[in-house]
Parts: sequence; C-alpha cells; structure tokens
Amino acid sequence: MTRFGATSAEALPPLGVYIHWPFCTAICPYCDFNVHGAHKNNAAVTDWQAAYKAELTHAYALRPGGKSEAGKVETVFFGGGTPSLMPPHLVAAILADIDALWGLADNAEISLEANPVSAPRPHLQALRAAGVTRLSLGVQAFDDDALKALGRTHSAAEAQEAFLAAQDIFDTASFDLIYARPVSGPQQNPEQAVEAGCAAWQRELSAALALSPQHMSLYQLTIEPDTVFHSRAAQGRLAVPHEDMAAALYEATQRLCTAAGLPAYEISNHAIDGHHCRHNSAIWHGGDYVGIGPGAHGRITIDGRKHASMAHKQPQLWLAACLEDGHGWQSLTALSAQEAAEEAVMLGLRLADGVGVQALVQRGVALDPQKLTALKQDGLLAACDDVVQATDKGRLLLDYMIGRLLA
Ligand SMILES: C[S@@+](CC[C@H](N)C(=O)[O-])C[C@H]1O[C@@H](n2cnc3c(N)ncnc32)[C@H](O)[C@@H]1O
Ligand code: SF4
Repeated sequence: MTRFGATSAEALPPLGVYIHWPFCTAICPYCDFNVHGAHKNNAAVTDWQAAYKAELTHAYALRPGGKSEAGKVETVFFGGGTPSLMPPHLVAAILADIDALWGLADNAEISLEANPVSAPRPHLQALRAAGVTRLSLGVQAFDDDALKALGRTHSAAEAQEAFLAAQDIFDTASFDLIYARPVSGPQQNPEQAVEAGCAAWQRELSAALALSPQHMSLYQLTIEPDTVFHSRAAQGRLAVPHEDMAAALYEATQRLCTAAGLPAYEISNHAIDGHHCRHNSAIWHGGDYVGIGPGAHGRITIDGRKHASMAHKQPQLWLAACLEDGHGWQSLTALSAQEAAEEAVMLGLRLADGVGVQALVQRGVALDPQKLTALKQDGLLAACDDVVQATDKGRLLLDYMIGRLLA
C-alpha cells in the first residue's frame, strides 16, 4: 500500500534513479545541458551529500517500492555535467542511501558519465570500488583538430587511454562520439563535400570500432539555442553540414556498426549483445525514474498515473532548497493522457525494435489505424501488426512522423 493508494510494487513499472552532477571543468560551446563551471562550486561535499539524501528521501515518500525484489532500484545513472568530478565517497554514500530506501537490486547497473580530463586510472578504480559498474566516456572525436574545434580540452590519445583503462575496470565501457560536425577547410561542391565528409567519418569510426567497444553513443551534432555554436552559426562563422551529408553519415554509421557487431538498439546507441544500457532502455520502455539533483527531471508513477518532476536548475538554489525544505523539486505534475501517449510513442519509435501495440494499450495509448496504414504506405513505419517500428527512412524523419501519428 503506498501513501497515495493501492499501487503495489508488483504493479509498478521498474525503477531507476538518475543523479545529476551539474559541474564541468570547461563548458563546451555546443552543450546546452544544465552545466556550470566547476570553479563555481563552493559548497562542502557534506552539504551535497545531505542534499542528495534529502531529495532521495522525499522521492521515496512519494514513490516507495517496498522491500520486495520487484520494488528495488534496478539501475542508477550518474549524469551531468561531469559526474567523474564527484568524489568517489560521495558516489558511494548516494548508493548507500538508495539501498537504505528502496534497496538496490543485487545485479543493479550503476552508470557514470566521465570526461577524459577527470578519468585517470586510480580515480576510475576508486569509482569502481564505490559501486559503479558501467562507465560512459565523453570522447566526442578521435581526431585532435576536431576536438579543438569542439572546444574540448583533451587530446584523442588521452581519450583513448582513459577508455582503455575503463575497459579494464568496469563491466561495461562506452564512449560518446559527435559526428556531422562543423565543416572546415576550403568549400567544395555539395557532392564532393558529402563524399569527403563520409570518407573521413568512416575512417574515424573504423578506428573507434577497432578498440572493440561494448557500447557506443553516436550523436549527430545539434546546434542548440543559447549556445556559443548557435551564435557562431547565426553569424555565419560555423558551417554546419547539409541535410544530405547528415543523412549519408547516418547511413554509413549504421552500416559500419552493424558489420562490426554493434547494431543500433536506439537511434544513437549501439551495443554488442548483453551490453545495452539497462537504465536508458527501461526509460524508453516506459519505466519509472526518480530524478535527483539540480535540473534533474523524473517520471514516477503515483496512484497509477505518470508524474513528471523537475528540479531547480541553479545548483546553489537547489542545494539550499534541499537543505531547508527537504527537496529541490520545483514541480511535480501528473501527465495528461495525451502527454503520456506522445511520450510513449516518441520514446518507443526511437528503439530499433519499436514498441509493442499491446504494451502501448496497457499504458492507455491507442493509435489511429488509418494513420498507421498511411505511414506504412509512405515507408516510414514497418508493415507489422503487433509492433510499431520506424523504418530507416522513418528514423531520419522521426519528428515529422510522430507529428502525423499523433495529430
Ligand atoms: C554529459 S555529456 C558526457 C560526459 C562529459 N560531460 C563529457 O562531455 O565528456 C553527454 C554527451 O552528450 C553529447 N552532447 C552534448 N551536447 C551535444 C550536442 N549539442 N549535439 C550532440 N551531442 C551532444 C556529448 O557526446 C556528450 O558526451
Ligand atoms: S559536453 Fe560534457 S563536459 Fe562539455 S559542457 Fe556538456 S556536460 Fe560538460
């Protein structure tokens, strides 16, 4: 019995916890996450520890799990910002707090995002000892000129060294790369540009695959509003690849990764068998996740309805709210049926396997058969009755397709 009603742990979706650490040693010119310069963090580690514990306790009161196996936390994800800057004892204390509240499943996946600059081998070993099982390293490029253009403060060799250490230490090691990066050098005609861009990316990706990663996140560069790259692009000082180039790069990526045994299981995520990110996969399948830390958002089921939580973004404001009021959540709102449907379809269509029609129905989402048929006829959805699955063409036009499906 929960505080709010009769939802048993068995009836609840699986539970993960997301912990946000909002600091980075340098802010990258393309990034619009909730990030702040590490030099601005003046608070004591004991205050951070108390604040995370307070917010976890608040979340537990709203979304308990019971102590049965089914109610335990199955995955924790330390994201940022740069959580490899966290002292390992703070990571361990947060995991102990989660275990004392919901209980941590014996085989829980504990992921942490790292920047090569803050990932020397002894530090990674200390994070492993604190309980981290999976490391996700922000490599971005295996090319020094590209790293410089992205405003990164590490070299390709340093990133590779950190990744090799992560492979030795963790159950799963993953890296992020950003492709379809700004175009430099003399401008070519469009066909030559696509050819040269694809050849260079295929060389880089092949070198990356030669490291035998178990998992990779490959993101196309997005020019986000309110970033340095956005103002440079607006002033004509940043040449962004044309759509044709981006599509060609995406197709080359799928081809090379599939041939190397790391097919995409989600639009940007590739893994060998058994090394999918369980935390993100559970979210994409409609799982609950408690969002803890400055700017973190979460999705938790209360009284059978998905609720969205959003925390204060400013680290100092969040910290003060946690220490004074017991949490830094700015809002907690029940999703409307339409919002829940949009989210379920949007996340499901990003998955290579798509989403089961029955699974959607159980979550209260009924899709219009006429719209499904029209999208199948246009080659955007695969022609399968039980599963809604985007085709390769559909994945390139995801926002358009979702707009048509839910209009
Ligand atoms: C929290 S960061 C990873 C860890 C660490 N902060 C780092 O950058 O090394 C998450 C990832 O998001 C990706 N990312 C951030 N902004 C992006 C953008 N505008 N376009 C594409 N990918 C982006 C990067 O690949 C980055 O590694
Ligand atoms: S990409 Fe990573 S290191 Fe760079 S600002 Fe974003 S979170 Fe920080």
